[in-house]
Amino acid sequence: MMIGITGTPGTGKSTIAGILESRGHMVVRAGETVGPFVLGDDPARDTKIVDEEAWAAAFTPVDGFVEGHLAHLLPCDRVVVLRCRPDVLETRLVARGYAGAKVRENAEAEALDVILVETLETFERDRVLEIDTTTVPPNEAADLITGFAAGTVPPSSGSFDWSAYLLEGL
Ligand SMILES: Nc1ncnc2c1ncn2[C@@H]1O[C@H](COP(=O)(O)OP(=O)(O)O)[C@@H](O)[C@H]1O
Ligand SMILES: [Mg+2]
Repeated sequence: MMIGITGTPGTGKSTIAGILESRGHMVVRAGETVGPFVLGDDPARDTKIVDEEAWAAAFTPVDGFVEGHLAHLLPCDRVVVLRCRPDVLETRLVARGYAGAKVRENAEAEALDVILVETLETFERDRVLEIDTTTVPPNEAADLITGFAAGTVPPSSGSFDWSAYLLEGL
C-alpha cells in the first residue's frame, strides 16, 4: 500500500517522514525523485519548475510512504494532508529563511486549502486524512498516520477553516 504525505511547505512532511523512517517504515522523499523532470527555474517564485505529469507517470509505486508536496499527484492508496494555521506556517517558513513573498504565497495557499482541494479532486474522501500540525506534535501525527494506514484511524477532511487569514491577515 502506498501512502502519500502531502502538504504546503512547512506543514511538517519531512519531520514526520523522518519519524516514520526511524520507526522502520519505508519512506520515499518525492523531492529526491524529481531531478530528471526539472524544466528550469522560476526565479520570480524562487522555485523549480517540474514537469509534474511526466514525473507522476514515471514514478514506480512503492509499498510504504511517499513524502512531498506533490505526493497527492501519485497513484496513492491513501493520502495524508498535513495542515498548519497560516500565521504559524509563516513563522516556520521565516525561520527556514524563505523570502517574504514566498512566505506569503505559501501561507495564502494554505489558507485557501489548495493542496486539500487538489487531493480531493483525485481521491475519495474515505481515502484522505487531514492532520493539523499546529496542534498535533510530530510524534502524534506519525501515530495517526500509521493508524490511518492500518485502518484504525478513520479518514477525515474538511475540518479546518483558515479563511480568516485572508480576510484579516491573521
Ligand atoms: N507537528 C509539528 N508541530 C510543530 N512544529 C512542527 C511540526 N512538524 C514540523 N514542525 C516544524 O515545522 C518546520 C517545517 O517542518 P518540515 O518537516 O521541514 O516541513 P515540510 O517538509 O512540510 O516543508 C520545522 O521547523 C519543524 O520543526
Ligand atoms: Mg520537506
